[in-house]
Amino acid sequence: MKVLLLGLGGMLGTDMGLELGRRGHDTVIPPISELDITDPASVAKIAAGELGRFDWCVNCAAYTLVDKAEAEQQLAYEINALGPSYLAKICALSGIRLLHVSTDFVFDGEGERPYVEDDPTKPLGCYGRTKWQGEQAVLEGHSNAIIARTAWLYGPNGNSFPRTMIRAWEAGKTLRVVGDQIGSPTYTGDLARVLTDMIEKNAFPGIYHTAGPDAMNWCEFAQIAVDEWATLTGKPALDKIEAIKTEDWPTPTKRPKYSVLSFEKTASLGIEPMRSTREAVVEFCHRLQELQAATA
Ligand SMILES: NC(=O)c1ccc[n+]([C@@H]2O[C@H](COP(=O)([O-])OP(=O)(O)OC[C@H]3O[C@@H](n4cnc5c(N)ncnc54)[C@H](OP(=O)(O)O)[C@@H]3O)[C@@H](O)[C@H]2O)c1
Repeated sequence: MKVLLLGLGGMLGTDMGLELGRRGHDTVIPPISELDITDPASVAKIAAGELGRFDWCVNCAAYTLVDKAEAEQQLAYEINALGPSYLAKICALSGIRLLHVSTDFVFDGEGERPYVEDDPTKPLGCYGRTKWQGEQAVLEGHSNAIIARTAWLYGPNGNSFPRTMIRAWEAGKTLRVVGDQIGSPTYTGDLARVLTDMIEKNAFPGIYHTAGPDAMNWCEFAQIAVDEWATLTGKPALDKIEAIKTEDWPTPTKRPKYSVLSFEKTASLGIEPMRSTREAVVEFCHRLQELQAATA
């Protein structure tokens, strides 16, 4: 398969590039200086064949600063909504299938069972709203596109939540973590495997939920990350992390209280669910340690 991958250097983009390469796909990953999704002239290079000929375009490029988005609404809109609309139209015109990555933040979090793909959306803030607008633009612009919503993403190549927890713990800080928001932690290595499976299976167009299998709160997730890091590094394990309430950790953007995503529709394609959070965190910790050693 010939794949154009966008989001070079990003948390998911990095692992997606590794996975596509490992599985022998011919992948082009242009830097933003070569392909800026917010610039129509730049996106038009795809139709002109300037970057090569492709079967698939995978869009991992996004504006992901959830809180900062409230102050940078225009920029978030351009990257999360306008960019995907240009990509969808150009890919449709060029006969390239589009796999666009989206988020659990399109939901308001008032649900009480895992969200399925056609549950009503109601984003709570600018980031979720612009990602939802991006989804709509992709569905309108490309009848053969796939939207893969994921959640609570973490990987070694970025400032993810478990990394922040590990750093804070190593710096001797007392950890107090929100315990009343529930979601599905998703490891970038596992998501890259699932997204590549979708491409190889030539999945039907439409929206799919692609998140990890465990439902937990942030405090439980932090505990797993710190426990596994302690095991790996041989440091004494931490006592129980203190769970706090959302109102004790105010943020500019309200987060969904519950945003577990059902994997059922994706599994119906014959795709294996991701491994447990603990197993994935073990691999995450190993890779984080290797990266730290390489940059020390
Ligand atoms: N992180 C999460 O917890 C989470 C949760 C659910 C869903 N998601 C979704 O998962 C996807 C991947 O997220 P991520 O955390 O891997 O994102 P990320 O680490 O923030 O990476 C995003 C990438 O997009 C690039 N980019 C920004 N503007 C661009 C433009 N105009 N043209 C081309 N590239 C551009 C960035 O480049 P620069 O670094 O040079 O700006 C960066 O490499 C996104 O769709 C996100 O919405 C993320």
